[in-house]
Amino acid sequence: MEIIPGSREPLLINESGFGESAEIKIQVRGLTKVSDKGISILNNVNVDIPKGIIMGVIGPSGSGKSTLLRSLNRLWEPPSNTVFLDSQDICDLDVLTLRRKIGMLFQLPVLFEGTVADNVRYGPQLKGKKLSDNEVYKLLNLADLDSSFFSKSGGELSVGQAQRVALARTLANEPEVLLLDEPTSALDPISTQNIEDVLVKLKREQNLTVVMVSHSIKQIKRIADIVCLLVNGEIVEILKPDQLSEAKHPMAQRFLELGA
Ligand SMILES: Nc1ncnc2c1ncn2[C@@H]1O[C@H](COP(=O)(O)OP(=O)(O)O)[C@@H](O)[C@H]1O
Ligand SMILES: [Mg+2]
Repeated sequence: MEIIPGSREPLLINESGFGESAEIKIQVRGLTKVSDKGISILNNVNVDIPKGIIMGVIGPSGSGKSTLLRSLNRLWEPPSNTVFLDSQDICDLDVLTLRRKIGMLFQLPVLFEGTVADNVRYGPQLKGKKLSDNEVYKLLNLADLDSSFFSKSGGELSVGQAQRVALARTLANEPEVLLLDEPTSALDPISTQNIEDVLVKLKREQNLTVVMVSHSIKQIKRIADIVCLLVNGEIVEILKPDQLSEAKHPMAQRFLELGA
């Protein structure tokens, strides 16, 4: 696929094999961010994220991956008319409603005080809904945690288990999109695989749209349907994971060679 840097045209994911009918969940149009010191952080980012796929975001550190991800649920407030969820400008949506629809996980999970069940119940409780024990068990199960975790406190858990609790807590809000910022970089290989399996299952069974920043090209190859390569705040390539070797941008090529 030809990439025109700085072009205002969206990159056409359809050309990457998702077909004409792929429903677009999130559109990013002309998204630019300049730091207080006048340094460009994101430079005219345009991308369509199809519904029900896992999009991997990779690129050198400092290239703007976290900033891009955070703009999608307004942890960083994008300018109006740059990010659309189901064709609606996210700046027009109530921010809490938006963050329920677009859940996010970070590199290190932060659990609230109390039990695992308290954590999972947190989001629905804010809306005045108390999840039954059964509903909590179902969510734990969805995040690949058995029922023995229900009454445990955060301090009793490994980082990998805590990350799955954070996932269950996010899923309790019934999100349509999950944003993941290097969610497995602090985890051992088995915990990493557990999380990857859960993500693939959620995509398949619930048509969840996932946008995942990863420093691991191998991980992206394992689970992503499409990969977005960010260099210096610009999307320089959008490729299928098995086409990464075809990247044309010199920085992208270098990054992929070193990370392979
Ligand atoms: N709030 C901010 N103010 C100024 N500079 C920032 C801010 N947030 C991020 N940056 C800078 O923007 C660039 C991209 O950061 P980030 O999105 O965290 O990159 P990545 O996640 O790819 O490592 C970095 O150079 C970082 O120092
Ligand atoms: Mg980052």
